[in-house]
Amino acid sequence: MESKLYLYPVWLRIWHIINAVLFLVLIATGLSLQYASVDYSFIDFEIAVSTHNIAGVAITIAYFMFVFGNLFTKNGKFYKIKRKGFFSDLFTQIKYYSYGIFVHQKTPFPVTAKRKFNPLQKVSYVGAMYFLFPIMILSGLALIFPEFIVPNVFGFSGIHLTGLVHIISGFGLSIFLCIHLYFCTIGKTPTSNFKSMIDGYH
Ligand code: HEM
Repeated sequence: MESKLYLYPVWLRIWHIINAVLFLVLIATGLSLQYASVDYSFIDFEIAVSTHNIAGVAITIAYFMFVFGNLFTKNGKFYKIKRKGFFSDLFTQIKYYSYGIFVHQKTPFPVTAKRKFNPLQKVSYVGAMYFLFPIMILSGLALIFPEFIVPNVFGFSGIHLTGLVHIISGFGLSIFLCIHLYFCTIGKTPTSNFKSMIDGYH
């Protein structure tokens, strides 16, 4: 018989909901800023700038909650990538998602108290949270305080390069979000993972 596992502590669920809402605000305002034209902007330019900046600072503060939560609670251990068997485990999971799942094979890495994420999930969460997210935050903060940006990098404008890095990391995380939402529907039922993020139990 399967028993319920408590895998999503309260602090994590609070961080996650704040992060998700702010991220959606950042996507909407960011896209509006990126594609705004003089004649038409999806959201009024000034409102989009100030909302994007406020949401950006707020998501940065929330990010510290995620980092410290993982540093000082057991949740952090789920993000540790082991070198041994890394590629073969990843390949097994990719094979399962691209074939096994469609012929009702058993999941190769079932969720247990010691293993919350499958190898692919772990790599994508680590990549998103510890690689793309800090890049997006640092480049965003630099754009709020452009006086700290080096004016000229090998003949290119430092501000333009920082903007480019910010947009690439922002788009990267938006793609992560689309994939994340799709994979969240591949639980025991399409909604079971979403319920876990509400009540904490897998
Ligand atoms: C509409 C927005 C979102 C929804 C509905 C959503 C849904 C979920 C669900 C159902 C889970 C639990 C399933 C699992 O363990 O994988 C989860 C976990 C997670 N989500 Fe999201 N998510 C959203 C946005 C985001 C965003 C924007 C990020 C980061 C950029 C993010 C990062 C994470 C991480 C890191 C976890 C694992 C947390 C942990 O257990 O330690 N999510 N999300």
